[in-house]
Amino acid sequence: AAVDKAGHKHFMSKEIAEQPTVIGNALAYYLDGGNIDIPSDALDFEQVDRLTMVACGTAFYACLTAKYWFEQLARLPVEVDVASEFRYREPPISKGTVALFVSQSGETADTLAALRYCAEKADRIVSVVNVPESSIARESDLALPILAGAEIGVASTKAFTCQLTVLFLLALKAAKARGTLTDDQIAKHLADLQTMPGLIQQAMDLAGPIRSAARQLAEARDILFLGRGLMYPLAHEGALKLKEISYIHAEAYASGELKHGPIALIDKHVPVVVMAPRDALFEKTVSNMHEVMARNGKVLLVTDRQGADEAGDGAWKVLRMPPVSPTLAPILYAVPAQLLAYHTAIAKGTDVDQPRNLAKSVTVE
Ligand code: G6P
Repeated sequence: AAVDKAGHKHFMSKEIAEQPTVIGNALAYYLDGGNIDIPSDALDFEQVDRLTMVACGTAFYACLTAKYWFEQLARLPVEVDVASEFRYREPPISKGTVALFVSQSGETADTLAALRYCAEKADRIVSVVNVPESSIARESDLALPILAGAEIGVASTKAFTCQLTVLFLLALKAAKARGTLTDDQIAKHLADLQTMPGLIQQAMDLAGPIRSAARQLAEARDILFLGRGLMYPLAHEGALKLKEISYIHAEAYASGELKHGPIALIDKHVPVVVMAPRDALFEKTVSNMHEVMARNGKVLLVTDRQGADEAGDGAWKVLRMPPVSPTLAPILYAVPAQLLAYHTAIAKGTDVDQPRNLAKSVTVE
């Protein structure tokens, strides 16, 4: 076969392991020295006053993450929605809007319908896709490939981190055009991004501790994922991955929303995965984590060495990630989220690559 498992037991583990390579490929494709090689004649952010991003599933969480980047780095107002809601809402689209569609397959019916809704209204239709020949790519003014290679596992992994990589480059391009970052700041972000393949490779070493945590997570009926800021969309992606392949009910919450409901669920039977690199919001997340611990919640803290030293006490498990620029943490922290889902599914004996009731590409409404 053209695509095989290359010695892995599942496509999903092969695709997780491929991430350093495929992200490297995307960087090589888009970076030309210190320049981001995305044609300005096809997309000029100087003229744009609003970005509307639409997608489904994992691609939607890539969009939610990118919203933070576009807003913080490029000061560009962003709206994000799931395609099935967006398409029927009849949202007003102003002329200065770039409509951006993210899709691994490029064939998701709702995303394509949302694109067609925007076609005559938006200034530009841009897509971020893995399949350049797809319908979504063909119907876009500009289609940016993510270069993840064929993704076979139903649960998306490498496509997610490649989507994030391309979206981050796009946000930097917007920041440059809009003058919201200096050339030095952009160069620093690009240098950080180029360390990502190596960092992901290092994060893969956590497979051992993740496997042992997963054996216990597999016993849980409900699992909560918490994150703040850039870790909030990733908490959603971690919960989605887990429910897709392990069939355990998992829910993501913004850490600060914990006390507005989900804290009522916490007892010693509910594991809580806290995604928290030592960033500017760390202390706030830690205080939410303590609220969980005070109710005997079983905390699995995913952080870096400094975070572990400062706040690891009392956690059920601590995963120590390599240090990373806070802006880029969602790309790196996707890896333990994927590995947690994978090893929990293995511990439960579910069909990792072909989970029940799910399709790789949803081409019907
Ligand atoms: C399905 C897949 C998901 C994927 C979503 C969107 O639900 O199982 O993995 O994230 O569709 O697919 P797309 O191809 O548009 O990214």
